[in-house]
Amino acid sequence: MKKVMLVFGTRPEAIKMCPLVNELKKRKKIQTLVCVTGQHRQMLDQVLETFNVVPDYDLSIMKQGQNLFDITTNILNDIKAVLEKEKPDIVLVHGDTSTTFSTALACFYLQIPVGHVEAGLRTKNIYSPFPEEFNRQAVGIISQYNFAPTQRAADNLIREGKNINNIYITGNTVIDAMKHTVKADYTHPELEWIGDAKFIFITAHRRENIGEPMHNMFRAIRRVLEEYPEYKAIYPIHMNPVIRKAAKDELSGCNQIHIIEPIGVFDCHNFEARCHLCLTDSGGIQEECPSYGKPVLVMRDTTERPEGVEAGTLRLVGTKEETIYNNFKELLENQDAYNKMAHACNPYGDGHACERIADILEGKEYVAWNVCK
Ligand code: UD1
Ligand code: UDP
Repeated sequence: MKKVMLVFGTRPEAIKMCPLVNELKKRKKIQTLVCVTGQHRQMLDQVLETFNVVPDYDLSIMKQGQNLFDITTNILNDIKAVLEKEKPDIVLVHGDTSTTFSTALACFYLQIPVGHVEAGLRTKNIYSPFPEEFNRQAVGIISQYNFAPTQRAADNLIREGKNINNIYITGNTVIDAMKHTVKADYTHPELEWIGDAKFIFITAHRRENIGEPMHNMFRAIRRVLEEYPEYKAIYPIHMNPVIRKAAKDELSGCNQIHIIEPIGVFDCHNFEARCHLCLTDSGGIQEECPSYGKPVLVMRDTTERPEGVEAGTLRLVGTKEETIYNNFKELLENQDAYNKMAHACNPYGDGHACERIADILEGKEYVAWNVCK
């Protein structure tokens, strides 16, 4: 019996790891343990509840206004005892958060093998996204199993000198999560508020965008909305109080936008599937919206998800007010430009990533996901 411990702490990690927890729990040769760091609290609990995952350990490290030192040192200190007690054969971490990096570092100190889910995403600029690009590169040095979502992610690892025998192309587990979420008969009071208007879906949270870039985003969005009264926007806002203040400063009084509390992942996917287009700086939403054929204006200067840009559904629009304004406006005015972006494609997976990862951990034959080849 192999003891596998999954460690995660934020909303996006939970959305992408819970389907894997549930797949591993079905496997007879694997004992599955879950440790959450609680880097996020409410936004994490929302996901755990959705997927019926009850953690074996909860480090509960979140505090309001936490900084990178707080998160990193608290996890490093608290997770030691859990790892020493359980002595897992392998620890699985996900992506690029501070939970991911600190956990991988703790495993390295204790010489516990690490499996990195969503390995190999790169911008090659360690300040963008900050600190995520550093986190994923650092975990890439430590990890023994690298579950790359796409061929391109695997190629990044090969170029960095990773042993090809430790790289597995699995697809992204978020596509597994998405298999059951979107329903034809879905309703929500906020969608009723949208009514016959065209629906713009907005999210924004990146640490490096806090401050002027986020104010620029909000100002650009407001200007466009006010020029086009037939559009309405919904923005489920992140719980970070700094983001809430910026949104209040720039968007209050604009009656075409509803700023609402974070929504559950089932709601989020159904909102994405019904929107006209999405403006976001989220990583996960860049992977989800292409499946529904929804154009995404990515309010960042870089992306580690070039597959969606190549497929035509994502457009990088930076964080300057005029550029966001111009790109947003173009998609509302120019039907050809909109149509070019609005086609369903799925460069990130086929919904079987969790099965592949579980097969690999059980030592079974695995067939790489190869749609992008
Ligand atoms: C973290 C990750 C980021 C990921 C994002 C997903 C790091 C450094 N950053 O950034 O990679 O894209 O999560 O959303 O790991 N808060 C709450 N309740 C919650 C969650 C957050 O109140 O459930 C508030 C707290 O005041 C907290 C703040 O939000 O201090 C920021 O949370 P934090 O995890 O530090 O950073 P994120 O910006 O969420
Ligand atoms: N999401 C959600 N509720 C929300 C906003 C986002 O469930 O109110 C989901 C979304 O579907 C995606 C993930 O959260 O799966 C993205 O998380 P976030 O943007 O916070 O982080 P990132 O992906 O940028 O790391």
